[in-house]
Amino acid sequence: MYSEDVFHRDGPTLFELAEQALASTDRGYDLLAPKFDLTPFRTPDKIVEVSAAFYGKGARGIDLCCGTGAGLRSLLPHCDEVVGIDRSRGMLVEAARRLPPEEASRVRFVRGDALSLPFHEEFDVATCYGAFGHVLERDEPRFVDQVYRALRPGGRFVFVTSAMPSVLSPTWWMARGFNGVMRVRNAVLKPEFIMYYLTFLVDGATRHLEQRGFKVEAHRNVMPAPFARAIVVVATRP
Ligand SMILES: C[S@@+](CC[C@H](N)C(=O)[O-])C[C@H]1O[C@@H](n2cnc3c(N)ncnc32)[C@H](O)[C@@H]1O
Repeated sequence: MYSEDVFHRDGPTLFELAEQALASTDRGYDLLAPKFDLTPFRTPDKIVEVSAAFYGKGARGIDLCCGTGAGLRSLLPHCDEVVGIDRSRGMLVEAARRLPPEEASRVRFVRGDALSLPFHEEFDVATCYGAFGHVLERDEPRFVDQVYRALRPGGRFVFVTSAMPSVLSPTWWMARGFNGVMRVRNAVLKPEFIMYYLTFLVDGATRHLEQRGFKVEAHRNVMPAPFARAIVVVATRP
């Protein structure tokens, strides 16, 4: 979530958000899907637009955890074919609905898990926006491994993250508070709703990616205000 954004007045009510958070991750997103684009959880167009400059050109692209398709649509000018994968059927339905009809033949939607991708050396570029909080820290090496496997040699994984904020900042305290509440919720309620802030930050992500064999470049100071803290990472499979 990009904290500079606010909730839209036609977006989900607090009651609806609570109902979604009490459901599982998948069911929560199925419920949220029709109003998702009116929440601050949807990646802002500016973030996607700036990172798209790092995609390069390729035959095939994939947007992991595509949600309603913010990143997926940004791949269309760069690739001949685009795949959007997400675990939530509701989110995929909304992504398909938001696709310009003339682009539909170039796009394939897959309901599936980013931690278990059914692809082997198929993509020139992979993206993932706003979804790292749904990957548990212990699963990050597995996630990186899946992306590596899905990319062709020379393929790029482009994503946006940030550095760890200062412990003196409100962002740090809000994130830690939220994570604490989610840990309690997940300890007492099943199925779990996996969502934690301040994960897959630039240093940890770079470590995992390099360990897997990616060549990593982190581009700082490329985002305009109010997203100036955001860092675009380009991880290339040699
Ligand atoms: C916050 S939304 C982000 C959607 C979109 N990428 C964006 O930036 O606007 C997170 C999305 O990740 C999906 N998701 C969560 N865990 C996933 C997983 N393990 N595999 C695939 N999709 C997942 C959710 O269903 C949801 O659509």
